[in-house]
Amino acid sequence: MNISENRYSNLLKSKRIFETISNVGNEIGQDAFVIGGYVRDQLLNRETKDIDIVAIGSGIDFAKKTAKKLKSSPVKVFKSFGTAMIIVDDIEVQFVGARKESYRSNSRNPKIETGTFEEDQKRRDFTINALAISLNSKDYGQLIDPFNGLNDLKNKILKTPLDPNLTFSDDPLRMMRAIRFSSQLDFKIEKETLNAISKNADRIKIVAQERITEELNKIILSKRPSSGFKLLEETGLLKIIFPEFQLLKGIENINGKSHKDNFYHTLKVLDNILPFSNGNLWLRWAALLHDIAKPNTKRFNSTQGWTFHGHEDKGARMVPSIFRKLKLPLDNKMKYVQKLVLLHLRPISLTNESITDSALRRLLFEAGDELEDLMTLCKSDITSKNKEKKIKYLNRFENVKEKLRDLEDRDKIKNWQPPIDGKEIMDTFNIKPCKEVGILKRIY
Ligand code: CTP
Repeated sequence: MNISENRYSNLLKSKRIFETISNVGNEIGQDAFVIGGYVRDQLLNRETKDIDIVAIGSGIDFAKKTAKKLKSSPVKVFKSFGTAMIIVDDIEVQFVGARKESYRSNSRNPKIETGTFEEDQKRRDFTINALAISLNSKDYGQLIDPFNGLNDLKNKILKTPLDPNLTFSDDPLRMMRAIRFSSQLDFKIEKETLNAISKNADRIKIVAQERITEELNKIILSKRPSSGFKLLEETGLLKIIFPEFQLLKGIENINGKSHKDNFYHTLKVLDNILPFSNGNLWLRWAALLHDIAKPNTKRFNSTQGWTFHGHEDKGARMVPSIFRKLKLPLDNKMKYVQKLVLLHLRPISLTNESITDSALRRLLFEAGDELEDLMTLCKSDITSKNKEKKIKYLNRFENVKEKLRDLEDRDKIKNWQPPIDGKEIMDTFNIKPCKEVGILKRIY
C-alpha cells in the first residue's frame, strides 16, 4: 500500500468517526469539534495520527457514548485531567470538555473549569493549533478560526492566540513546543512570541523532565534539528535544559590562535548525518554528543595551539550521566551512543602507515555491529572549511573504508569452511580418503 492509499484509508476511517460523533452529539444535545493537530496536519497535507475532540460539557460522557456506537476499545478515563480516550481502527481519539482556564497544568490535580468553546480555543498553544472543525449538524465541517490560524499556516508562522506571556505561563513546555514545531514544519516563530520565550525561559524549570526530553527528541528527529538547537540557544532555554551542550559554544583566541566553535561544528555534523539517520534518534544523539567533552579537555600550548586530547574518552564517560539527567534510556541505546562517541576519531586517525591489518581488526572488533554507523558519523564529522584539509580527511576516510572492506573479504575467505567435512563424506559414501572427497567438499 502506498502513502496516498494509506492516507485515503485513514481519511475514510476518520470520516466514520466524525459522523458518529456528530450523531452522538445530536442525540445527547452536546456540541463537539475536532481541534488541534489533526486539523493542522490535514491542512498541511501531512500524515495525521490522533484525533482531538472538544466537547461542550463532559468529554468523558461523550467518549463513553461514542465508544458504544463505534464498538471501539474500552474507554480509558483520565479523571484528574477530565479527558477520555478510545482507539478506533488504530486511531486514538481523545475527548476533552471545553475549558476556561489553563489548558494543561503541572500540578497533579489540575483545576479544571468548564468553559465555552471560544474560551477553550483561546487557551490553546498556537493559532495553528486552535483551528477547529465543527462536527455539529447545524454547521458540520465548518472551519472555526478565530485567530487567523489559517493565515499563519499559509505564511508559516507560529504565534500564540493570546499574549504569549500568558500562554507560556499556562504551560511553559509550550516554549519548547514552539521551537519543535518550527523545526518540524519549517515555520518562523513570530517576534513577540519569540521574545516571550527568551523572557520566560527560566520557567521551563517547573516542567517535568520527561516532557522536556520528549520535545527535545522531537526536535532532534525533525527536518531541521540544527535550527531548533540554534533557537534553543538564542532564547536561553538550552543552557537550562542541556548546559553541557551550551558549553560547546564560543571561540577562544590566544596569541592569534583560535579553535573552531564546537557548537556550530556539532550542528553541522548533525546536519550532515541527517540523510543517513532516517528515524535513528540514537545516531543523531551520537552526533550531538561526539565532542561533548571538548570544553572539559581544552588546553592551549604555544607549539600545538589548542588541543582537546582525550575528549572522545571523557565524552564517552559523560554519556551515562547526561542520559540519566535527561531521563533517556540507560540500556543498549545509551551504550550504542557511548560506543560511537568513544570511537568517533578512530577511523580518521588511521594514516597510511598505521593502517595495519591488526589496527583494522581491532577497529572491526571494537565497533562490531556499529561499524557502519561509526563510519557515517566519522564522515559527517569532516566539516573543515579548509578545502585542502577536507580533501585530506575525506581521502583518509575513503582509504580506511576501502581497506576495511578488503580485510573483511580476505578474512571471510580465510575463515570460510565448507559446510561438510571429509569424514562425513567418507561415512556417507562409504569411501576411503581419496581425491574425490576433496572434489565433493568443494562442490558443497
Ligand atoms: N495543546 C496545547 N498546549 C500544550 C499541548 C497541547 O494547547 N502544551 C493543544 C493544542 O491545541 C494541540 C492539542 O492540544 O494541537 C493536541 O496536543 P498534542 O497531541 O500534544 O499535539 P499536536 O498538536 O497534536 O501535535 P503532535 O502530535 O505533533 O505533538
